[in-house]
Amino acid sequence: MESIAIQHLTFSYDGGQPILNDVSLELPLHTSIIFSGPIGSGKTTLLKVIAGLLPKYGGNCSGKVVIPHGQQIGMLFQDPAMQFTMDTPQHELEFTLENLQVPHEEIDKQVKSALTFVGLEKLAQQKLTTLSGGQLQRVALAITIAMKAEIILLDEPFSSIDEANRQFLLQKLTQLQNERGTTIIISDHDLHNYQKFSQLVVQFHNSEATLLSPHDSSTLLNNADHQHSTNLITKIPPLTANVVMKLKDYAVSRNQTPLINPTSFNIIQNKVTLLTGPSGAGKSTLLKSIAKLAPYQGEITYKGQNIKKIFPGKYYSKVGLIFQETNQQFLNVTVGEELMLSIKNGRNPFLTQKTTKELLSMVGLPDISQRIIYSLSGGQRKLIQNLVMLIMGQEILLMDEPFAGLDHNSLQRLLLLIEQSKHHFPQTILIVSHQLDHLAGIVDYHLSLTNRQLSYQGGTQNESQR
Ligand SMILES: Nc1ncnc2c1ncn2[C@@H]1O[C@H](COP(=O)(O)OP(=O)(O)OP(=O)(O)O)[C@@H](O)[C@H]1O
Ligand SMILES: [Mg+2]
Repeated sequence: MESIAIQHLTFSYDGGQPILNDVSLELPLHTSIIFSGPIGSGKTTLLKVIAGLLPKYGGNCSGKVVIPHGQQIGMLFQDPAMQFTMDTPQHELEFTLENLQVPHEEIDKQVKSALTFVGLEKLAQQKLTTLSGGQLQRVALAITIAMKAEIILLDEPFSSIDEANRQFLLQKLTQLQNERGTTIIISDHDLHNYQKFSQLVVQFHNSEATLLSPHDSSTLLNNADHQHSTNLITKIPPLTANVVMKLKDYAVSRNQTPLINPTSFNIIQNKVTLLTGPSGAGKSTLLKSIAKLAPYQGEITYKGQNIKKIFPGKYYSKVGLIFQETNQQFLNVTVGEELMLSIKNGRNPFLTQKTTKELLSMVGLPDISQRIIYSLSGGQRKLIQNLVMLIMGQEILLMDEPFAGLDHNSLQRLLLLIEQSKHHFPQTILIVSHQLDHLAGIVDYHLSLTNRQLSYQGGTQNESQR
């Protein structure tokens, strides 16, 4: 059977230890393969080597990667927004196909069919900057489909999208595989629901990558299905709870269509509230409204004062936002500099008294103070982003997908850190997360955004008052 052959591949970034050490793998064509392993274990690196981006754009490599002749490769990056250059999905697709010198009369047809395949035809003309994380993933997938890539590499395509979208995309990928015989490689931390999609798992560990036997692959995927839980039992906030923010008749519309219908609700002080809802429903928009970064109708008050009347300087000393895309967050260059800056300006005494090394080890990272932030792996960057925000210690913390791309151990450590920090230094935390695994311990309340309505999950108000 034809395959992508990786032969004795050793790869290191400039001057560093090998990230992949003497890796040999035969990845059969026309199958679906999963890359699994802890954060920083080299999954993205190997995908980029297969895609031909490394060592072309950095690093040193020995050994060989042999791609069967004529196989076109398309790659979806961990951060989909980074790979777009145009303003709308339509233009982005046209641009890609023009670059590939697809005849003009063909372009329109291919663009339409790719957008329809991923269910995005209605959003073809919408600005990419206004699309949700899940929608951006669909655009990226549409591009590889339009390119007619025979090999598609997807780097954590589902890390910030909801279950329904994950299912949808997995089903589309399976369809693509069946209809076109596309070879699909996905790197992911969350292995639930993959059993129908693939029986081949490559496990990354200690600079090595091994193709698991069908039996071991299936056991791993099976376990992931069993461990996956979406159960979260919360109560609705009691009427007596301390309110820190009030949203009154809050509503958002986009291009004249309502996204969130007028609702009024409170955010409870010094509690952790989880906000869930389908991709594109408006969760990030809600966080941005609260952060005064997106327009809305109605009124938002912070301790009784309309937030529109609070000076930005004062407001942002009270409210901090973790963006969904980690790249928007960082001002500095190395991890050490970034952490030192937060320690200097931060208000969370539980964390500002610690050294950078201690802080890193609290989230399970080695002393990577000297590393340039942009060179970190996706999961490592996410951990630094969370650390920085916790150190800053604003009264209210808005976190948009803070757990995306973390492996099980990193997630556990981060949750423990949030819990400890909360204990020493209470904060109001509003978390948008599509993944509910393991959150039961830290979440107090659960706001759900469905069918344009926002509501607290749990018993009735009367019940929780009793
Ligand atoms: N440009 C770079 N320069 C130096 N080191 C790098 C660079 N890019 C990645 N690394 C390091 O190489 C290791 C592997 O990174 P890689 O991005 O391949 O991991 P990953 O398995 O994809 O992790 P994640 O699950 O967090 O996405 C990490 O320790 C990372 O910090
Ligand atoms: Mg990665």
